[in-house]
Amino acid sequence: MNPIQGKRILLGVTGSIACYKAADLASKLTQAGAQVDTILTKAATQFITPLTFQAVTGRRAYTDGDLWGHDAHVLHIGLAHQADLLVIAPATANTLAQLAQGSADSLLNLTALAATCPRLLAPAMDGGMYTHPATQANLQLLAERGARIVGPEEGHLASGLVARGRMTEPLAILGHIRQLFAQSGALRGRRVVVTAGGTREPLDPVRFLSNHSSGKQGYAVAQAALDLGAEVVLITTTTALPTPSGAQPVLVNTAAEMLDAVQQACQAAEVLIMAAAVADFRPAQVATQKIKKQTGAPTIELTPNPDILATLAQQRPLHDRPLVVVGFAAETENLATNAQVKLQKKGLDFIVANDVSAPDAGFAVDTNRVTLLGADGTVEILPLLSKTEVAEQILQRVVKLLNNATAKPKLP
Ligand code: CTP
Repeated sequence: MNPIQGKRILLGVTGSIACYKAADLASKLTQAGAQVDTILTKAATQFITPLTFQAVTGRRAYTDGDLWGHDAHVLHIGLAHQADLLVIAPATANTLAQLAQGSADSLLNLTALAATCPRLLAPAMDGGMYTHPATQANLQLLAERGARIVGPEEGHLASGLVARGRMTEPLAILGHIRQLFAQSGALRGRRVVVTAGGTREPLDPVRFLSNHSSGKQGYAVAQAALDLGAEVVLITTTTALPTPSGAQPVLVNTAAEMLDAVQQACQAAEVLIMAAAVADFRPAQVATQKIKKQTGAPTIELTPNPDILATLAQQRPLHDRPLVVVGFAAETENLATNAQVKLQKKGLDFIVANDVSAPDAGFAVDTNRVTLLGADGTVEILPLLSKTEVAEQILQRVVKLLNNATAKPKLP
């Protein structure tokens, strides 16, 4: 379901110190399943060789020397027409000016002129060159013609300046490319709210009660929804994982904060997927100062937290939103029975049950072994899968439910 899989990407590399990042980008795209053809400008070959790109992509990398080869008259047309996406990273000020002008004096410029596919440009240059009105006008023109401009970022530049001009990191560019290809997915135009991580319930200013949830499964769910073109609000308790590109993150700590964030995000959402491990109880009193050991072991009184899923599911008939509500059941025993009870009690469309005591499933690891139990009585036992694959299975089911929900005529 990774939307980059099988895509043909034409990577243009132009003369900047950021060329080394382009090799990493080519490698990441190849690992994501794309066929990457690289074109280097003459200036780029001063920084990096075609061989580097050939080694990481397993495909030929072209230079202006190939323009006048035996198949010269078709090379740029062939490359341009086969491409699903043209990425120019790094894109220098000179290349941006040439693209804006429609120059046709190099293999890359010729190919860019001939290409009709979407294009993504990642500028890299010194701060003053970037802010120059000529560069800004070129970028504006290229954006108006439909190019997606990614970056540049603020930071340390080769000149020693700290300014805007650094090429965006390859991982972030990869995220933008993923988003570009996801635009036509089955969840296009749909808003999906995903929660992730374990809530933290404060005891005093330095301590909290929490659980082992890493947030990995929730983040994988958010990515899978983005890969289908959804608009994703990711309500999370963790800062340890990178936010999937395109997701709107909302950082919370406690169950009460998560409830507020979920209620707000769900006002305009079609889907809620609660992958977070929400603490059922919180300390009844939060000490304003650090609890000192001299006063002896404290007795901590707990008070129940709101059940977020149950609250949202109950409000559903009033607001008609979300159309699909999915929960997780973290169990250490009687998996199916306990999950079935939660499914019904919380009024869910389906529940993802996992045995969190298994060493290869549940908290922190990259794999999961889950059973999907539907409100319609279906039970689907999935084998050991990566959390990414589990997320894809969950989203496939969500798409089906959503299609059924929107196809159904509304009752008067
Ligand atoms: N959940 C919730 N609000 C809570 C507790 C849990 O929304 N206060 C959600 C979780 O995000 C999950 C589902 O309910 O999607 C089931 O959570 P789980 O911890 O397995 O079950 P609990 O309802 O907390 O019951 P128990 O702890 O007794 O197993």
